[in-house]
Amino acid sequence: MSKPLRKVVFPVAGLGTRFLPATKVVAKEMLPVLDKPLIQYAVDEAVDAGADTLIFVTNRYKHAIADYFDKAYELEAKLHEKGKGELLALVQGTLPRNVRAVFVTQPEALGLGHAVLCAKPVVGDEPFGVVLPDDLIWNGAGKGALRQMAELADAQQAGVIAVEEVPRDETDKYGIVDATPVDERSARIRYMVEKPKPAAAPSNLAVVGRYVLPSRIFSLLEQTTPGAGGEIQLTDAIEALLKEHGKVLAYRFEGTRFDCGNKAGLVRATMHMAMQDPSLAPTVRDFLNAL
Ligand code: UTP
Repeated sequence: MSKPLRKVVFPVAGLGTRFLPATKVVAKEMLPVLDKPLIQYAVDEAVDAGADTLIFVTNRYKHAIADYFDKAYELEAKLHEKGKGELLALVQGTLPRNVRAVFVTQPEALGLGHAVLCAKPVVGDEPFGVVLPDDLIWNGAGKGALRQMAELADAQQAGVIAVEEVPRDETDKYGIVDATPVDERSARIRYMVEKPKPAAAPSNLAVVGRYVLPSRIFSLLEQTTPGAGGEIQLTDAIEALLKEHGKVLAYRFEGTRFDCGNKAGLVRATMHMAMQDPSLAPTVRDFLNAL
């Protein structure tokens, strides 16, 4: 039995400019794929990995996320009164009873690394997960990506970063790893480069939004100076961890990733989830054929 990953950080304090004007008032993480907001898919994956403490790094515009996981007294009372048990269970089930949500503020959007650092007082001294909710990873009835990673991290006593093969001509959109294969799915990372041009990319293995990291990363983040775009980059702190011979594995997870941080990805995820739902699939198929 591997040790569960107890704490998972959700950095959700970004500005979400790719979804303006919607994100003027709706947090990007609250955009729905069918009937669930992106943050719910992310939370379900963390709970599946064994997490009992979820740390949301938010900003003053993102109160909706806290409200979403809070009790909705009036709505719940009404649904109860009307005997709508199934709907009531949905409303009450956003967060399992044994799981607590902690909200930490990132006062200024100083980068993903800085957002993760804001969670330091809650995480303390143990390995923890980081989930970026705009990467929706679907593995059907199989193990969630974060659970797969947590098991590997525990077995190998290593940090684990999710990677995916991307087309060669798209390496300049991602963090790319140079790694020595360990087995079919994992490889030991030698170094990482942020958004290399295809000719300079050491591989086509791109970092996606799931990490299992040792608490050592916090001290390294504290020493990290602003990098690309004036932001404190998580990649730079991971690079520092690699330089001091920290063991970090790149892991090709089982499942399909949808980059819901952009419009095409959100549409793809929505279509995919609709096609998984027998009550929707025929309608969607007919509609697409007609289009
Ligand atoms: P993105 O690069 O996707 O930025 O951040 P963004 O602001 O969310 O979206 P766009 O590019 O403007 O459309 C990657 C992740 O890091 C978080 C974001 O919330 C997202 O989950 N993040 C980024 C923070 O929490 N704080 C930051 O300062 C920056």
